[in-house]
This record gives sequence, structure tokens and C-alpha cells, in this order.
Amino acid sequence: MGRPGLRNASGLLARAETLVAASGERVRAEYARDVGRGIDEVASPALILDLPAARRNIARMALELERLPAGIRPHVKVHKSPSLARIQHEHGVVGFSVATVWEAAVMAAAGLDDIFVANTLAGAAQVDALIALAGGRHVLVAVDDLANAAMLSAKASAAGVTLGVLIEIDTGMDRAGVDSEDAALALARSVLALPALELEGVTGYEGHCSGVVEADRRASWHRRAMEFFGHVTARLVREGIPVHVRSAGGTTTWRWTAAYPGITEIQAGSYVVMDNFHGRMVDDFESALTVATTVVSRPPDRVIVDAGNKTVGAWPLATIRGLDAPVVRFDEEHGVFGLGSEPPPLGARLQIVPGYAPATVSAFEAFHVAEEGVVVDVWPVVPRGPGHHGMADMS
Ligand SMILES: Cc1ncc(COP(=O)(O)O)c(C=O)c1O
Repeated sequence: MGRPGLRNASGLLARAETLVAASGERVRAEYARDVGRGIDEVASPALILDLPAARRNIARMALELERLPAGIRPHVKVHKSPSLARIQHEHGVVGFSVATVWEAAVMAAAGLDDIFVANTLAGAAQVDALIALAGGRHVLVAVDDLANAAMLSAKASAAGVTLGVLIEIDTGMDRAGVDSEDAALALARSVLALPALELEGVTGYEGHCSGVVEADRRASWHRRAMEFFGHVTARLVREGIPVHVRSAGGTTTWRWTAAYPGITEIQAGSYVVMDNFHGRMVDDFESALTVATTVVSRPPDRVIVDAGNKTVGAWPLATIRGLDAPVVRFDEEHGVFGLGSEPPPLGARLQIVPGYAPATVSAFEAFHVAEEGVVVDVWPVVPRGPGHHGMADMS
């Protein structure tokens, strides 16, 4: 905590703090009247967070990890909420994972430290923001390319700060990352030679396993991914490279990754709120997020609700809580379901369980925070990158 050498971090942080405060004020001004109402009474569509369920999920993960070797650096891109991140922090975390440097800025403005931008960064605005943040706290970033590492080092050096680096290893997802022992070793050696980078370890999110529904097959894909990650790590260690951090793991593989020898932390995020994508593979956590909706049309053979793909996001796996009405399709402002065995009438209030929570959260500006079906607070969904209000360039 508290490294000296802030240059423009105070400007960035001040803007992020303003954004966090303004987002809170904005949603309170908009939705404070909903506090005290039942979740079926607020204007639909509304994003409902079942806070006790989310707390139980966070507590359960913390408890389970006490018996496993790895800690957790939860991915906050799922909920984009400093309030939820603080609850996670209270339960013990290694740090936080974020998808974008703008999420990092918001989490830093909320007072959180040890932030890993779990992606490579190349844009000038993003890199400047990262470096500004690194002046005041422990910041890590993924790196998979020597020229990129050299650029980060040069900019960090000019600003008088040090950036923590994890070498990103492609464990099979075919996204970013180096994909051989030799490439990892060459990059690690280069990073060690760069003045303003601190090589702290490796990252290897096995996201390609996340969508493998069948557990045995997912387990075998996972084993292959972790074996590769382990081989690369072992080679680095044999060559004298420091690999203190070994980070991987999402919600659908969390237990296997947390138990895998050598892994020091998992990056799971969706376990806090869950959704049908993750819930069909992992039953350790409760569904804590729904979209409150209203039946707006009832043709003889279908049920139409007022939550479409502009609010529910990725929809093919969306369901209606407590009903067996099958999803047919989502248009922009309409969700179309079949009748199921108990077709709800026109005007009925329903709760949609999202197919993929990160997409759903991202479509809303506020959580209606509920306890036992009653709204107790409204929280902003804060961090957005360029293209969303308030965060186009915070450097
Ligand atoms: C790099 C990285 N780590 C971790 C996660 C977390 O996965 P989940 O939300 O399934 O827990 C993601 C999700 O996309 C990711 O991209």
C-alpha cells in the first residue's frame, strides 16, 4: 500500500472517485423511492441483487478456500460493484482481478488495493491510466509480448513507478498468452531485465473449460490446461525465474484449480451472483441476481415480458424463476417464452434468471439490492470503459 511517486494518479483517482460518488448519487436520485418496496413493485425491468444470497456465496467461497491451498483474487468485472468488492475484501482476498484498467481505477478509488488487470494492455490511454494507478498501490498486469513489456517499462520508468507483471500463458483458450515453455522463458527473462517491471508470476485463465457442460469432459480439459500451466511454471522455476504468483481459475473450475498443486490464487468472479451458464455446471453457489420483469402480452401460445436483450444481455440460457416456461427468443425490449405448465397471466410479475450475469449487469446502471423480496438499497453499477458515460479517458 501507499507507494510514493504519484504523478497524475491523483487526477485519475479524483476523477474515478467523483465518478463513483456521482454514480451513487445518480442511482439514488433515480431509484431511492424504490427502497422499502417489494421487488415486484418496482418499475420493470430492474436488476435485483439478493444481498443475503450474494453474502452467503462470498462466505461459502471463503470458507471452502480455507481448506484449499489457493487464495482468491475475485474477478469484479462480473458485478462491477465497489460495494460487493468490499464485502469480498472483508471475507479475505489476495487482491482483485479486473478486466479493464477503468475497472481498476474505480476499485482503486473505492479504496481497494492489489489489483490485477487480467488482460494485456496496449492502448495509450489504458497504459497511462495503469501507470497512474501503479503510483499509489500494488498493480499487476498481464503481459504476453516483449515489445509490449518494453513499452510498459519505458512508460513506467518515465513516471517513476514499478508495474507488477504476470506472464500470461495460453492454457488452451486460444486468446492472449504465450503458448510454449520457450516463449514463456524468453519473455520472463526479458521482463526481468526491464527496469520498471517486477516479474511476480504467471497467469493462465482456463476459460475454454468454462463452457464444457459435461463434468468429466470439463475435468479432462482442465487437467490438460493445468498440466501445461504447471509444466511452463516448473520450467521457469528450474531456470531461476521467480514465479510467486500462479493465478488461474473461473467459477466452473474453481475447486479443481484451487486444489491444483502450485496454484496460489483463483480468479473466479461469477460465484458471487451466479447465472444459468455457471449454475448448470456448479451447484456450490446460489442464484443471487435476477431481472424483475412484467408480462406485457399473452398470445395463446406464448408469454411476452418487458425485458429483452438490451437488458438481459446474453439470453439463450435465460429462465423464469419458479416457472418451466421455455425461452423462445429475446428481441430488443421483449423476452419471448413458451407457456410452460403454469402460464402466467398478463401483468404478472416475474424474475428472470440471467443466462450470463456479466452481460446482464453491464446493461444496467443500478442494482436494486433486496433482502427477502424487499428493496433495501440501490447501488450503482459503476465501472465502464470508453463508450460509456464518464470513463472515456481518465488518465
Ligand atoms: C481472465 C479471466 N479470469 C477469470 C474469469 C472469471 O470467470 P468466472 O466469471 O466464470 O468466474 C474470467 C471470465 O471471463 C476471465 O476472463
